[in-house]
Amino acid sequence: MKDQKLISKAREILNNNYQEKGFTIPCQGLYPFQWNWDSGFIAIGFAHFDMEKAKKEIKTLIDSQWSNGFIPHIIFHNESDTYFPGPEFHQSSLSPLVVNKIPTTGMTQPHVLGFMLERMYHIAENKEDITAFIKATIDAVYEYSLYFYKHRDPLDEGLVYIYHNWESGTDNSPIWDDVWNTMESPKYKFERRDTTHVDASQRPSNEEYNHYLHIIEIAKAHHYNDEKIAELSPFLIQDPLFNTVLIASNQSLIRLYELIGGNEDKIATLKQLTEKSIQSFNDKLYDEELKAYCHYDLRNKKLLRYVSSSSFAPLFAEIPDQKRADELVGTLMDKFGNEDQYMCASFDPTHERYKPKQYWRGPVWINLNWLLYHGLNKYGYNAIAQRVKDDSIEILEKNGFYEYFDARKEEHQNNTAGYGGNNFSWSAALLIDLLSE
Ligand code: DGY
Repeated sequence: MKDQKLISKAREILNNNYQEKGFTIPCQGLYPFQWNWDSGFIAIGFAHFDMEKAKKEIKTLIDSQWSNGFIPHIIFHNESDTYFPGPEFHQSSLSPLVVNKIPTTGMTQPHVLGFMLERMYHIAENKEDITAFIKATIDAVYEYSLYFYKHRDPLDEGLVYIYHNWESGTDNSPIWDDVWNTMESPKYKFERRDTTHVDASQRPSNEEYNHYLHIIEIAKAHHYNDEKIAELSPFLIQDPLFNTVLIASNQSLIRLYELIGGNEDKIATLKQLTEKSIQSFNDKLYDEELKAYCHYDLRNKKLLRYVSSSSFAPLFAEIPDQKRADELVGTLMDKFGNEDQYMCASFDPTHERYKPKQYWRGPVWINLNWLLYHGLNKYGYNAIAQRVKDDSIEILEKNGFYEYFDARKEEHQNNTAGYGGNNFSWSAALLIDLLSE
């Protein structure tokens, strides 16, 4: 009964955020366009009760693909004065590779599309219909995977870089502070819109925005050319969450190609790339002392030795062997598993940079919990996985469908520990998916 009420509320949120043009905004005001990885999570929520909308969501995202396979992070389908920086700042038309004329950004986001397509296949009751949809879309998703290895892997390691913190999805992680400390960005004149919707203490600072804008200006000056960006961007990171999600999407694409038949060449390419990626991932991104996966700073040639929720994402794509997974889960429980906390904070709660209310500097996010839940189950950590799932449901039920949540249980006494945007689409979508398990 309680679950049914939550599910109906979640469905209502998704339907309200769905737009006539066939995509779903993450939430009103704060994020009034289509966001890449949000769309993936949203699609699996819709898949449980309105497959047509789920398919539309994926289709409108894929329609924004550039001629080199790249799919952008925001698609500006409509005008809006509630968001900065908008299409006039990003100017995607500077790139000669743009195909669709709808303006976008010139950066991307974690590639969840492969495993979202596979999840949609499993959810679908009408297998014939979903198979036809997969046949029509899978090559575009494959090209998106290949784009990264062709254009974002300058050392040919099978590990791809991101050139902007907004590509990571973990926008203002304290890990990036190390990069900001190497930069001297101009002080731009700009008008933030996010802080008119959400308390500024829950959002990134203006100094951080100067860096965010500066990196985009460098990319724009070179028409979003990847080779130039690799040469010049002060932010060039091999991110464990981003690479995990890419590997997991490749693994799903392999299974989906096997399911629909043919495409042996693409299966072989994906297998070869994925194997190489996993090898380099384990060799380069694991810190033996911290017993966790970390980010590698390609520009400054060093491992950024911090533990965050991204450190545990590799479980989702079965990147560690069992022994390393055991060690990693030990780190997870030591730092993030205290009984007075909900799992899983986005940044190490024992670290001085931890900020429990500030966006990706500490709060719990439902999409990272969803990845962690599935990852833990893959290694037999079913009880901890169940705790992650139960915690996710409990914080949504107590506070509402917010964007992120305080990990400290004591802050939840008055049910006001949800922060950022409210009626947030992926929180709703993933609640539906978790409750269907
Ligand atoms: C924002 O504006 O904070 C977005 O999350 C960027 O993707």
